[in-house]
Amino acid sequence: MAASTKELSEQTIAVVKSTAPVLEQNGELLTRHFYQRMFRENPEVKAFFNPAHQAGGTQQRALAGAICAFAANVDNLEVLGAAVEGIAQKHAGLRILPEHYPIVGSNLLASIREVLGEAATPEIIDAWAEAYGFLADILIGREREIYHTQEASPHGWSGFKPFRVTDKVRESSVITSFYLKPVDGGKVPPHKPGQYLTVRVPEQAAGTTMRNYSISSAPRGDCLRISVKKEPQGTVSGYLHALDPGAEIEVGPPCGDFFLDPTEHHERPLVLLSAGVGITPMLAILEVALEAHPERKVILIHGALNGKTHAFGSWVSGLARTHQNLTVHFRYSEPDAEDIRSGICHSRGFIDAELIESLVPAKDCDYYFCGPKPFMGGIYRHLLEWGIPASQVHFEFFGPREALSTAS
Ligand SMILES: Cc1cc2nc3c(=O)[nH]c(=O)nc-3n(C[C@H](O)[C@H](O)[C@H](O)COP(=O)(O)OP(=O)(O)OC[C@H]3O[C@@H](n4cnc5c(N)ncnc54)[C@H](O)[C@@H]3O)c2cc1C
Ligand code: HEM
Repeated sequence: MAASTKELSEQTIAVVKSTAPVLEQNGELLTRHFYQRMFRENPEVKAFFNPAHQAGGTQQRALAGAICAFAANVDNLEVLGAAVEGIAQKHAGLRILPEHYPIVGSNLLASIREVLGEAATPEIIDAWAEAYGFLADILIGREREIYHTQEASPHGWSGFKPFRVTDKVRESSVITSFYLKPVDGGKVPPHKPGQYLTVRVPEQAAGTTMRNYSISSAPRGDCLRISVKKEPQGTVSGYLHALDPGAEIEVGPPCGDFFLDPTEHHERPLVLLSAGVGITPMLAILEVALEAHPERKVILIHGALNGKTHAFGSWVSGLARTHQNLTVHFRYSEPDAEDIRSGICHSRGFIDAELIESLVPAKDCDYYFCGPKPFMGGIYRHLLEWGIPASQVHFEFFGPREALSTAS
């Protein structure tokens, strides 16, 4: 975790720890109240937030979870290091700045006061104000570093930059790829395979709205590719799918803490597990892994509904034909007759522990996974049961992070 300039007082630690259970009990109520309050009092920050994440309660759960984890570990903040990195990366993608922190802080404290009522004594509010400031400093510090790195990297930028859609390729009945090049004609910085971009597009109610999209190709120098599933009534996916080549969109620099570091742990096999559009970060990881370590065993297991919705099937199959070290398995939940006849569907059903066990040479592998929440929850449970150390388990959520124990 990034170092903070100040220390929390013992008094504050004691009060925060003692109020943690009350906040945990009221966590979602509190964060729901908080968002409503903040959007009413400070509508200027509304455009940062995804309304679908609010409506589904996932963002409330993510923030409540972060606050509770912070309160429970306030005397041992080292354990929060990974969580802080994920939040800072998410904030940096959206270009959250230090001046936004007092807005969140004042609304959060007011909500604690309003939700807890008389139980929120001045002593408790003061302690939480200090604790919030402490956590805010840690996040602001890490976000400052990320912005600095983005600007300093070759061809890097910070904030949003105009990009042109130079090509649009249909990958399946629901997924389309967009090739993006800077409008200024410059190059793009090398991203870490697995990272995402933030796309900002016009939106009626809030003026603009932003979404993350994983970069679905290895670093190429001159262009970035995203592959987007068209969601029913989806604001940004619908907007992107309607664009023609030549259109401009605003793009933030690559961010995210889910990536493959090709210099690490390459002695162990690499297992990539995805379902649906969750294949996108795996494509970049796969390309880089095969290039960096031709001898490393790589197993990619992907689940799709059927051949029509399955994107990148023939590209991945082509890689398997030219790379002896790559094993690929496609499992469809509802294959049609053509999927079976052509052999693209290797098995029928959902990805489960039995399938993974049958394909990995031994369980001691590095695992990367991404897909719908029930899929992720199931995989996570299997890996826990197999005793795979946390350092070998990596996953990406296509929405606010949630506890995977509840996702299944
Ligand atoms: C790190 C990360 C990487 C990602 N990578 C990819 C990727 O590579 N490819 C990809 O396709 N997606 C990816 N996503 C998901 C992506 O960011 C978007 O969430 C997705 O495209 C849907 O956005 P949208 O604007 O089209 O839909 P939204 O408008 O956000 O709506 C999503 C769904 O919620 C419903 N909805 C919207 N508003 C409400 C409301 N108020 N009440 C109830 N329901 C509502 C909509 O009908 C729709 O079905 C990624 C997400 C993250 C966090
Ligand atoms: C100490 C202060 C803060 C904490 C603990 C915190 C915590 C979090 C957490 C846990 C997430 C979810 C991360 C993920 O799912 O990957 C998140 C996302 C987010 N945060 Fe913060 N945050 C803080 C401050 C702020 C501030 C100051 C802003 C600015 C307005 C902000 C805006 C956002 C936005 C826009 C998202 C994404 C929401 C979405 O997907 O709709 N946060 N934050």
